Amino acid sequence: MKSNMFSFTHSLPTTIFLVLTIFLHPSNAQLNSSFYSSTCPNVSSIVRSIIQQALQSDTRIAASLTRLHFHDCFVNGCDGSLLLDQGGNITLSEKNAGPNNNSARGFNVVDNIKTSVENSCPGVVSCADILALAAEASVSLGGGPSWTVLLGRRDSLIANPSGANTSIPTPTESLANVTAKFSAVGLNITDLVALSGAHTFGRAQCRFFNQRLFNFSGTGSPDPTLNSNYLATLQQNCPQNGSGNTLNNLDPSSPDTFDNNYFQNLLKNQGLLQTDQELFSTNGSATIAIVNNFASNQTAFFEAFAQSMINMGNISPLTGSQGEIRIDCKKVNGS
Ligand code: HEM
Repeated sequence: MKSNMFSFTHSLPTTIFLVLTIFLHPSNAQLNSSFYSSTCPNVSSIVRSIIQQALQSDTRIAASLTRLHFHDCFVNGCDGSLLLDQGGNITLSEKNAGPNNNSARGFNVVDNIKTSVENSCPGVVSCADILALAAEASVSLGGGPSWTVLLGRRDSLIANPSGANTSIPTPTESLANVTAKFSAVGLNITDLVALSGAHTFGRAQCRFFNQRLFNFSGTGSPDPTLNSNYLATLQQNCPQNGSGNTLNNLDPSSPDTFDNNYFQNLLKNQGLLQTDQELFSTNGSATIAIVNNFASNQTAFFEAFAQSMINMGNISPLTGSQGEIRIDCKKVNGS
């Protein structure tokens, strides 16, 4: 039998339910890939060329921009709320919340992109969409997959710093907690494992993983799931009374390239953050098979990553007449 959603094999109540589900789904389906095709047809190439320029002097910037989309989407949805500075009605910014303060970076490049986009198509492209486009361009410029970015998000009028503190996973949480935070925004464990693969590029400061190096969970010993040679290197780079701000490559085998080495590292107990290694080292976890698959098959990882970025980009966007198109990503219009 042909499976047509509107075929008369469904009862009337079922058909009404399906129609309502499709048209009233709260979190996505309103975005589309051709949103700016008449109002700003070059937006993707503008975003890409500014990032390419920035990469000349900052090889890390692709990673930093990819992370911004994540930190935006997990707090009130992908609405550019992360980008607002304190001032006007914004009494506290997300930038100053725990997961972002002295950590999230790349805001100046977002501003450069916005300036350039405004020059070509004033008042049309949202800051939230710029983050989605910047993440795709960054991953593909880093050697990773490309995908068609869905567009049409609008920008928030508010920031939610306490939401940033509670919704964005911290690197010392259990796998169960991290899974719950992904699940809270509609993402499953395949999304979790695939998106964690973004730690194939970029850096992490010692303060985010040094609890693993000397006295893990009060045991007086390092985290037993850390490879001993890797442990020695990390102890040297992050000594007990050293600076918590020292940078380390999240993927030492290819620090600025987007590839599947991150998963191969996990197989060797060389995940940098506790939450990275937990994906592979948590006994009985369904994430282990996914890590194994991505470690042995880069194409499978790239395909899953692209799909999961689309899933993440669909988290509760503002659309239609909600929010606004910010002129300056740092400020609500007119403030
Ligand atoms: C699963 C939960 C996650 C946790 C606990 C986590 C935590 C962290 C931490 C602690 C850092 C280092 C920040 C610093 O040193 O300043 C970091 C960096 C990074 N994260 Fe995650 N992250 C997670 C998921 C993700 C996701 C879903 C993405 C994107 C899809 C992502 C992309 C990145 C990138 C690219 C960097 C490097 C940024 C740079 O070099 O500026 N992370 N993450």
